[in-house]
Amino acid sequence: MGLNQTIQEALNRHINEEFYASYLYLSMSAHCDSLDLPGFAHWMRIQSQEEYAHAMNLFDFVQDRQGKVTLLPIDQPVVEFGSVLDVMEATLSHERLVSSLINELYELASRESDYPTQVHLQAFITEQIEEEKTAADIIAKLRLIGEDGSNLLLLDNEMAARQLSPGL
Ligand SMILES: [Fe+2]
Ligand SMILES: [Fe+2]
Repeated sequence: MGLNQTIQEALNRHINEEFYASYLYLSMSAHCDSLDLPGFAHWMRIQSQEEYAHAMNLFDFVQDRQGKVTLLPIDQPVVEFGSVLDVMEATLSHERLVSSLINELYELASRESDYPTQVHLQAFITEQIEEEKTAADIIAKLRLIGEDGSNLLLLDNEMAARQLSPGL
């Protein structure tokens, strides 16, 4: 079964959302660099690459289903964030937004009886659990650290170790 028009449009919109997330985290990476936190800047750059991989996963899925990918304009991301805690809180709230968009997409696929899309989206739903947990864990650490600069530097070093693994 090929893609119906409604699902194709919704998938194209979600491809755009994943590219926007990639752009947003790249903007956060630049901001962390300006805060002199190279580990966080690196972590955000990897995060950005993972979002790019999520977009490309759906890009391939649309094509595998004999659909047509239509790339939409990517909005300008937020550019000013404040402290690194603000950055991670913005990350968590963005991931929650993406989770709700994926849930809506799944619901649409279910209404349209598009079983392949439902199966494909399951990995995205699972991935969002991880994304929200990871951001929440880092926020908890930053709260414990508070104003303690030397512990922040230790956490920054930990963040520098992240390697690319898109999870899908
Ligand atoms: Fe994503
Ligand atoms: Fe994400």
